[in-house]
Amino acid sequence: MLLVSNWKAYVSEVAKAKSLVAAAKRYAGKNDLEIVIAPSAPYLGMFVTKNRAKETLSYASQDISISTGGAATGEITAGALANLGVKYAIIGHSERRAMGESDETILLKVQHALAQGLTPILCIGERERDQDAMYLQFLRSQIAAIFEPLTPKERAQIIVAYEPIWAIGKSAADSIQPHDLQEMVLYIRKILSNYLPGAGANNAPILYGGSVEPANIRVLAAGAEIQGFLVGHASADVASFTGLAKALI
Ligand code: PGA
Repeated sequence: MLLVSNWKAYVSEVAKAKSLVAAAKRYAGKNDLEIVIAPSAPYLGMFVTKNRAKETLSYASQDISISTGGAATGEITAGALANLGVKYAIIGHSERRAMGESDETILLKVQHALAQGLTPILCIGERERDQDAMYLQFLRSQIAAIFEPLTPKERAQIIVAYEPIWAIGKSAADSIQPHDLQEMVLYIRKILSNYLPGAGANNAPILYGGSVEPANIRVLAAGAEIQGFLVGHASADVASFTGLAKALI
């Protein structure tokens, strides 16, 4: 299982960042649990070591630049992150999309990430559910916009994170129900089968994110064929992060 800890902008104190990393190190690698820390960029510089063989934790950036380098003040390129030793890049998070990021931008970022050897964690998810199930069509087009233009080799490297926006930033009680998650994961694999031949869609890693907390992580993990979680608020607190990690080992 993959547990991606998306700190968002919750962590701004060095001491807190250090305790979260120390907590993650206690569980990383146990029973095949891969823990991925996605802190804000300064903390990547602080924690990531180039020697991945010695490191039990993996790291992700929360976003990457659309720029590949040069005169682009303030931008953090895929190349800079990859050279530091970062392994994953979260791309297309709904909070970035809400700031105006388009599918075209997201596609470029995915291509930049792949070109530098970063594994993209591509976030998709509907804003709300409507009775006519238009949201299914919406998800289909979100996936198509990224997968269609990519080469088969590129497509096979993407991790999809299903994060319905209506479930983000709430509590376990407001999160998706295991049965609904199961249905959505089947649906996403069906769409992916248009782009990934053979067993590709069945093997594609899919994560769930949206109010995953210690109280619901186990039932969600048991109820659907997912490979892990992308967790926000509950991963930015040592006690609840520990609860999440313990539930998965
Ligand atoms: P949340 O955020 O766990 O706070 O709902 C998840 C996410 O947006 O990645």
